[in-house]
Amino acid sequence: MTQLPPPSVGGDGAEDVPVAAFDDAHLQPYAKHPRRAEIVVGACLFVGFLGFVAYGATYWVGGQTQVEAVTLGLGFFGFGFAMSAWGKYLMPKGPFTEDRHPVEGTEPEVQALAAAVSERGKMVFRRRGVLGGLLGLAGAAMGVVLAFPLLRSLGPQPMKALDTTDWKPGAYLVDINARRITVDDLEVGGALTVFPEGFVGSAIDQTMLIRPSSVNIVTKPGRETWGPQGYLAYSKVCTHAGCPVGLYMEQTQQLLCPCHQSLFDVLDGAQQVFGPAPRPLPQLPLYIDSLGYLRAQAPYDQPIGPGFWERS
Ligand code: FES
Repeated sequence: MTQLPPPSVGGDGAEDVPVAAFDDAHLQPYAKHPRRAEIVVGACLFVGFLGFVAYGATYWVGGQTQVEAVTLGLGFFGFGFAMSAWGKYLMPKGPFTEDRHPVEGTEPEVQALAAAVSERGKMVFRRRGVLGGLLGLAGAAMGVVLAFPLLRSLGPQPMKALDTTDWKPGAYLVDINARRITVDDLEVGGALTVFPEGFVGSAIDQTMLIRPSSVNIVTKPGRETWGPQGYLAYSKVCTHAGCPVGLYMEQTQQLLCPCHQSLFDVLDGAQQVFGPAPRPLPQLPLYIDSLGYLRAQAPYDQPIGPGFWERS
């Protein structure tokens, strides 16, 4: 076992401390053939770099799960294997021991240690400029592509897309088969997904039509005419994260969003009563025309869906 000579703490301090010679056996790499080890480490770093770049390129052009998994795995494998091999085979093999001494060092000891570490560090890295460059390259590529999910996955801004829907005054309510809904279509306790006529399947227009009663329902002051003959209509787009609020629980008169369990009180203007939804579901004012068809009095009274920066 090689033992470092203890630093001298007398006299002029750091200048008296002998620094290990570059050729000392314990400062030599563990690898029998350091040159080969350097090539292997460099190749692994390069593979890691290529893996990260390929992952970033795949993600940037739209992504493909399997390809992303393979390329990202390749990047981490190359980078990780290179780091492990570098530490094991190219760093000084030691062992490094020194006599036990007081924990707190004196100023000359601190200077001596700094000088010794500085010298050894130079010895270790002196011949490894290429590997250092590859390490920086692979590390930089990894850092950049790991930021992609944050930068690239934010998606487009909603702008005014949620401010208006296709519900216009007089719009007929139709079911998924584009059939107009009449006042006799729902039993008390029934619920149905409806759309404005001409927009069947539209995500922003989907609406829950519910019939909790057979008599007019007033959910909020100012909405006296919105629930004729017990029909109520609420946007089906959850105000939390936009999932379809499709579960009507007749016994409690609540709408449940299956994504994060937000509950909305049907008889109280779809006021949120549980869960992370921050505001009620917008209500669609209804009327029944002379032929018995259910129609919209007006658009929703407020933007549908989740909140966002530019929400008015
Ligand atoms: S999306 Fe409805 S509760 Fe989260």
